[in-house]
Amino acid sequence: MRLGIDLGTTRTIVAHVDRGNYPLVTFDDLDGDPHDYVPSISALQDGRLVHGFAAEAAARQGAPVLRSVKRVLGDPTTHPGTTVAVGDREFPLLEVLAGFLSSVREELPAGDHEAVVAVPAHSHSVQRFLTLEAFRRAGFTVTAMVNEPSAAGFEYSHRQGRTLNSKRNRIVVYDLGGGTFDASLVESDGVGHTVLDTAGLNRLGGDDLDHLLADLALDAAGRTADDLRTRALDDLREQCRAAKESLTPQTRKIVLDVPGAADTGGSDAGDGADDSTTVVLPVADYYDAARPLVRRTVETTEPLVGELGEDSSVAGIYLVGGGSAFPLVPRMLRERFGRRVHRSPYPGGSTAIGLAIAADPESGFTLTDRLSRGFGVFRERDEGRALAFDRIFASDVRLPSGPSNAEATVVTRRYRAAHDIGWFRFVEFTGDVAGGEPTGDLAPVGEMLFPFDPALQTDGAVEGLDPATVTVHRRPDGPLVEETYTVDADGIVSVRISDLDTGYTRSLDLGA
Ligand SMILES: Nc1ncnc2c1ncn2[C@@H]1O[C@H](COP(=O)(O)OP(=O)(O)OP(=O)(O)O)[C@@H](O)[C@H]1O
Ligand SMILES: [Mg+2]
Repeated sequence: MRLGIDLGTTRTIVAHVDRGNYPLVTFDDLDGDPHDYVPSISALQDGRLVHGFAAEAAARQGAPVLRSVKRVLGDPTTHPGTTVAVGDREFPLLEVLAGFLSSVREELPAGDHEAVVAVPAHSHSVQRFLTLEAFRRAGFTVTAMVNEPSAAGFEYSHRQGRTLNSKRNRIVVYDLGGGTFDASLVESDGVGHTVLDTAGLNRLGGDDLDHLLADLALDAAGRTADDLRTRALDDLREQCRAAKESLTPQTRKIVLDVPGAADTGGSDAGDGADDSTTVVLPVADYYDAARPLVRRTVETTEPLVGELGEDSSVAGIYLVGGGSAFPLVPRMLRERFGRRVHRSPYPGGSTAIGLAIAADPESGFTLTDRLSRGFGVFRERDEGRALAFDRIFASDVRLPSGPSNAEATVVTRRYRAAHDIGWFRFVEFTGDVAGGEPTGDLAPVGEMLFPFDPALQTDGAVEGLDPATVTVHRRPDGPLVEETYTVDADGIVSVRISDLDTGYTRSLDLGA
């Protein structure tokens, strides 16, 4: 079967292709109740990892849990060997993710599972690689990987196509998820989609609204997060999430039970319950506290929307992501952008539905996407005493979607080497280049030692070396060197460095 799978920070949602329709797949919890998502959590039970609803149930019994693993995936320091702690055990991040995705696949009807998957628009190569690899290890055949807001753009033109015309052909997708905020400006001619610009906040999402409410409740109860055991704090935040999700524009008060300091967080439920305090919070206070957070998302969206006059080509500002169901979100967006703000009827499912549309060859939908982050290399200068940064790709570089523009995504550099060994450090970054340096979130995505001295160009001469311990010397009459950088359709960069005099070559898939 063909699927669109949205691996989310808090929820994983799956839509499937069904003769021109893209319904969400339902998953049963341990009580047999259906949900149109799987909670993206893992827990340690009897020495092994369990995932999804089983993990949620285990957590209620006091098992150590791992939530929001996607935040680890997006961390700039994450590499393929990164491990995560669950209770007192460490697991490779890739193993946890692959295990979680296997548990999702086991719930699907048996057969082949061809999936289109997504990553946040600004994801670096490591996050893209690990996501693809985890899906593959879980047994999925991944046919494409696209940026999350681009997928939501598909869902919009599928559903709201009538609002698009030749003059109004652009959509701004506002996606507030559990852990990230992303916005994209997408142009659509009905089936062809081009991403014109993206913006985002990597560490802002619905989870932060839960934490905010928990802090207000703790304040009202005269306690601090430090007073609570990890599990009691986790319980309180879960209560806050549930309270937040049941808010309607008419809600006036929120009632919460703040666990007491004596709450041991032990395994038998109910201990220390007598020490908990019930607090009643006016919703208005919660909204006041949440306003700055939502305002940051509005400000991030503004440059993509531009002037909304008669001549504007923006047909709609489309609110997707579970977090956009928070009543303050549409309210503040309408205050700023007026009537062109539309909410998705399935805020949490929009990305998965868009991915299923992308997975359906019959839909005819195509996408031209952008790299959405910069890529560059630091090279050594002056015998290793200085580094020079060279931006190879700017964030607006188009990703190859077919042979027609494939050339645009290859960049080469040629020069005569001035040292005996080159140490190349590759980085991806979310900002611009200022003062010769990359700015914004910076992710080191790989490094390579390359021998320019032919005496060192033998198998094994540099492979095992720790670059930090290598001394670099100036060497006159160095070889002619060519560096070739390529971006593939998944947004993953690879590099090949060659000594054109001897033919010696080294290659690296960044992220792998
Ligand atoms: N009715 C609701 N009202 C308010 N918030 C909600 C509602 N339903 C879900 N949410 C919140 O939406 C968030 C999850 O949204 P979503 O499923 O889009 O995120 P995700 O895909 O898991 O995360 P991300 O896209 O950041 O990786 C959670 O914070 C959840 O509490
Ligand atoms: Mg999401």
